[in-house]
Order: sequence, then structure tokens, then C-alpha cells
Amino acid sequence: MKKIAIFASGAGSNAQNIAEYFRNNERVKIECVLSNKTDAYVLERAKNLEIDTLTFSRDDFYNGKNVLHFLQLRGVDFIVLAGFLWLIPGYMLDAYNGRIINIHPALLPKYGGKGMYGMKVHQAVVAAHEIETGITIHHVNAKYDEGDIIFQAKCPVLDGDTPEMVAQKVHRLEYEYYPGVIEKMLEKL
Ligand code: GRF
Repeated sequence: MKKIAIFASGAGSNAQNIAEYFRNNERVKIECVLSNKTDAYVLERAKNLEIDTLTFSRDDFYNGKNVLHFLQLRGVDFIVLAGFLWLIPGYMLDAYNGRIINIHPALLPKYGGKGMYGMKVHQAVVAAHEIETGITIHHVNAKYDEGDIIFQAKCPVLDGDTPEMVAQKVHRLEYEYYPGVIEKMLEKL
């Protein structure tokens, strides 16, 4: 049995989609959902899905090892970031070397980096008159959105598309592909 921890800071629709995908899977379990925000809606979703949660402060995360110890105690094999907004500290990258992935709502290396998250990404894509955008699933390293790319999928940006419309298309791609890519990564562990 491979155990996944999902880190999320916000709404958590991807976290829920991933949890539902693996719900009756005998080889994969969503062991826990972790968040840096005590009022993140993802925590509500986790509760409804009967998944344990942990919240932590900046100090816990960067100056202590409680979060890592929690993951190790629970036997977590793989970490999935889904809308998690903080950089992963070096000690955790070392402990989970090659086993932390993220999804970004654009075609990296474009529209990535610090401050490029959520609607800001889609606003920038529309403002630049891009004709396509998409998702990037990538390994996580010490910099925002710079880890090796694992998978990308594209969708068109049409004349007159608003950032909200683009966000919807991108979310659809996220739901369609993220769980399957995670499953493939776990097979290689
Ligand atoms: C997604 O668009 C994901 O690509 C990005 O953050 C967003 C999270 O959305 N990293 P949700 O919280 O899963 O609804």
C-alpha cells in the first residue's frame, strides 16, 4: 500500500478529485491532508471524505521538523501539492527526494514563479493574448515552479475568453490528468 499526503492551501477541488479517484484503490491511500491555513476549505472537504488533517504554522514548517515527523510516523511515501502556496523546505526535499510533485495551471516555464498562482496566472495568459494554455505537473525543488516537468496538457484560449473561462478549462484538465499521473508515479516507487 502506497500512502499519499496532499498539501493544499485553498479550496482543494483537486485534493477532493484525487481522493475520490483513489477511494476504493487497494494499493493507494490518501493518508492525510495538510494545510498551512486553518480556514482552508480543503480541510472541510477532507473531513467529509474522512481523511485526517494537519495544519501547521510557518515556524513549524521552516524551523522545526514536526511536519516531517508526522508524515514519517504515518508512513507517507509520496507528497502531492495541490494549490499549496509555500516553498518546500530543504530538509523535506531531502527526506522525500523525487517524491514530491506539484501541478501548475499553465504551460511552464511560462507563467510560473513566485506570485504566479490562482487567477493571476489566467489573467496574465489572457492579457498576453496566448492562443493556448494548460497544466504542468512537475517535480518540486527549492524554487517555485522550476522542478523537472513530468507531464503537460494543453487547451485553447479563444478570442473573448475571460480569465474565469480559462480557469475553468484548466481546472478540467487538472481533474482529468492529475490523478492518473500520480498513479503512474507511484507505480515507479
Ligand atoms: C489549481 O489550479 C492548481 O493548478 C494550482 O492551484 C489551484 C488549486 O485549486 N496549483 P484547488 O484548490 O484544487 O481548487
